[in-house]
Amino acid sequence: MTIKSADLEVLATRRSQYPEGANAEFLLVGRSNVGKSSFINTLLNRKNLAHTSSRPGKTQTLNFYCVNNEFYLIDVPGYGYANVDKKTQQKFGMMIEEYLEKRTQLRRVFMLVDFRIKPTEDDLLMYNFLKYYNLPVTIIATKADKIGGSKKEKCLRQIMDTIDLVVGDDIIVFSSVTKLGREEVLKKIHAGKNCG
Ligand code: GTP
Ligand code: MG
Repeated sequence: MTIKSADLEVLATRRSQYPEGANAEFLLVGRSNVGKSSFINTLLNRKNLAHTSSRPGKTQTLNFYCVNNEFYLIDVPGYGYANVDKKTQQKFGMMIEEYLEKRTQLRRVFMLVDFRIKPTEDDLLMYNFLKYYNLPVTIIATKADKIGGSKKEKCLRQIMDTIDLVVGDDIIVFSSVTKLGREEVLKKIHAGKNCG
């Protein structure tokens, strides 16, 4: 799939603001600072279309990126960071829940975890929450550039042993620095956007 166009079309905090129309949608979720916004920039070959930061809590709304006038990638606030206050975290959680409850355009969720770190309690809660809604999930094990070859197998096993993946769900090892996994993700999107 070639990326011909990509625009940030809508910043939403509630349902009435979501884009209209039937375009397929792909949602990103994951801990704050895990690299969701960087993932979008890498997929779309754009340096800073989605704003990134080394400080957690950068993304504060549901950001709908329209790609090729054909589908949306949706960047969302991260969860699970102790220094983002409780009230704000709750607000973010409700925003995502409101979206997930009934969004028929949603085809697949990309759940980002840090390749080097054992998935946290928050990650497990999120995965189970997505499964409650019967959503297909691809785990993106990101920041893969940060670990050497010999440790990769062990890190992959750590994720697989912690998150009990449902049949049909899968894992893609990814890096926004080397672009590892980019083509594989684009293939997933291509396959997902025409079904459902
Ligand atoms: P929130 O918006 O706070 O939820 O964070 P986010 O998940 O959108 O993370 P963001 O993309 O802003 O990235 C956080 C930090 O991690 C930034 O400093 C990025 O440069 C860095 N980062 C993201 N992806 C990668 C990666 O694949 N490799 C490396 N080495 N760094 C990465
Ligand atoms: Mg972000």
